[in-house]
Amino acid sequence: MSWAPAEVDLTRPNAARMYDYFLGGSHNFAADRHAADAVLAVAPHVADAARANRAFLRRAVRYALQQGIHQFLDLGSGIPTVGNVHDITRHIDINARVLYVDVEPVAVAHARVLLNNNPRVDVIQADICFPDFILKNSTTQRLIDLTRPVAVLFVSVLHFIPGDVNAIVEPFRAAMPPGSALVISHATSGTATSQTDEVQRLYQRTPTPLQLRAPAEVEALFGDFATVPADGPAAKSASNAALVPVARWRPDPEDQIERGHASASPFLTGFLAGVGMKGAAARE
Ligand SMILES: C[S@@+](CC[C@H](N)C(=O)[O-])C[C@H]1O[C@@H](n2cnc3c(N)ncnc32)[C@H](O)[C@@H]1O
Repeated sequence: MSWAPAEVDLTRPNAARMYDYFLGGSHNFAADRHAADAVLAVAPHVADAARANRAFLRRAVRYALQQGIHQFLDLGSGIPTVGNVHDITRHIDINARVLYVDVEPVAVAHARVLLNNNPRVDVIQADICFPDFILKNSTTQRLIDLTRPVAVLFVSVLHFIPGDVNAIVEPFRAAMPPGSALVISHATSGTATSQTDEVQRLYQRTPTPLQLRAPAEVEALFGDFATVPADGPAAKSASNAALVPVARWRPDPEDQIERGHASASPFLTGFLAGVGMKGAAARE
């Protein structure tokens, strides 16, 4: 535990560290594991949903790279685990720039160690409820050139924030130049059940209770961005919805988790994802 920053309360479960536990990571404490096990006891597919969300993040980052985007602002980036944004970009574009932002001290401390003075990747500790602080931060300005397309990621973070989250997303949408990509995944109330109610109750014990939103509310976060057809270029058919369950956004046969579980749990069917492009038609 030498890596745990002094200000961390080891006795209170935290959503970032519970997510790390769901993904099989080791940056969590007994209180996190206890709370996460309680969630898994009522909803065993939450761990599948976490992995499917992580796989969505990877596909969305690759998609952005294909669109010619070479800089990434990952908001609520979490505790670094296999498949971070810069792990994905470095295989495709070694010069891509990545800024991680998280409010959780463990996530930030661990990211700092992992990044090991890589000049193209950095992390700041900040609350995304203060977009101006992030956009005007000197590290952001050094790394992210807002005159060129950028991918802004709100992956599995907005459902930990109460109230009007469009007020958070809107300043980022406004700051992003044409050709930029907005990537969102969000747990919704679309398929809420007694199981989801119980999970919400368990998350009340963390500093960031779960805030499920209606799918339409999440779709509205894309503003006037053009959402990318989730079925991919081949499918011109019926279900080219803006938002789909995370596992169904341009699925990749390599992702084992995509198969089998997709309709098994409200956590997979109600956990929605989409990508919107600003001011430019998405190249397929
Ligand atoms: C479930 S994890 C998601 C991590 C990563 N984005 C992913 O999808 O794999 C949610 C993260 O959001 C962070 N978070 C929650 N509220 C936040 C806020 N107001 N500002 C910044 N980060 C926040 C948590 O600390 C946690 O690391």
